[in-house]
Amino acid sequence: MPDFVHKPVMVGEVLDALNPVPGGRYADGTVGGAGHAAAMLARSSPTGWLYGCDRDGAAVEAAQARLAEFAGRFEIRRGNFADLSEWVEAGSCDGVLLDLGVSSPQLDSPERGFSFSHDGPLDMRMDATQAMTAAEVVNSVGAEELAGIFWELGGERESRRLARAIVQDRATRRVKTTRQLAEMIERVSPRAGRRTHPATKIFQALRIFVNDEIGSLKRGLEGAVEILKPGGRLAVITFHSLEDRVVKEFGRERARDYTVMGEVDVPELRQPRTPELKWIQRRAVHPGAAELAENPRARSAQLRVMEKI
Ligand SMILES: C[S@@+](CC[C@H](N)C(=O)[O-])C[C@H]1O[C@@H](n2cnc3c(N)ncnc32)[C@H](O)[C@@H]1O
Repeated sequence: MPDFVHKPVMVGEVLDALNPVPGGRYADGTVGGAGHAAAMLARSSPTGWLYGCDRDGAAVEAAQARLAEFAGRFEIRRGNFADLSEWVEAGSCDGVLLDLGVSSPQLDSPERGFSFSHDGPLDMRMDATQAMTAAEVVNSVGAEELAGIFWELGGERESRRLARAIVQDRATRRVKTTRQLAEMIERVSPRAGRRTHPATKIFQALRIFVNDEIGSLKRGLEGAVEILKPGGRLAVITFHSLEDRVVKEFGRERARDYTVMGEVDVPELRQPRTPELKWIQRRAVHPGAAELAENPRARSAQLRVMEKI
């Protein structure tokens, strides 16, 4: 699959964090175009092993092809990283990587319907076998729920107004394409003076909703810890504050040496416990200037790293 091009972000930083070694076992839950996977396999040559998965069938095919030189040292399946622990043995891995979000081929292929920069069907499914598309959400969900999606998953300030406008518009004409939705949003919320397209947050919110990205991330973090050995590391690259918050909260909760009793953390009521994780990178690592100059899509990437105790 020669046209599947995705530039992996912070490869050096990920290798520093996971430190792959010969004989080690690693899992890449978002294998994509296999840039990180190839680097991990190369660094752990000749005997390191990699489990990989991706929800996107095209990514899985591309990864298999890209990793041909490492044949016999990896297993890649199509699937959600939330289910990694169903097929990767508990306590077996030295490192797990989750590089969240979408790949460049997904964003750049008009027929995948992720981007308002190209006209295509309003799809946005990472896994094309899934039933629910963005068009279905936009054409069938009520105004209140739509507004909730735009606000909670996109932080869109005009969520209510835009949701009402969509519901009014779709009564006469089904919303079928990315351009149709982007133009409608631009009409209701014109662009004047803005740096970003007025549809940016709405597209982000729909994508996160259609792919249940936050639910998958929460389950994926749990599963990742389950498949790690004690001393194994989890590296997570996020691209927006919503997912980064989930990672931070997960790390904070699992690294605490006490249990909070009840809704509020009252110090006198804390019950001591052994923490499950410790932070290796609590402060997010960002791409360096050289990488940003070469790959503008890396600009919002943040890496956090934890270690299983
Ligand atoms: C940023 S790209 C990863 C790129 C990859 N690290 C590389 O080196 O090419 C994100 C990938 O994660 C996949 N993905 C996102 N959420 C997923 C999930 N819950 N389970 C499995 N794959 C997921 C997407 O389909 C996409 O291919």
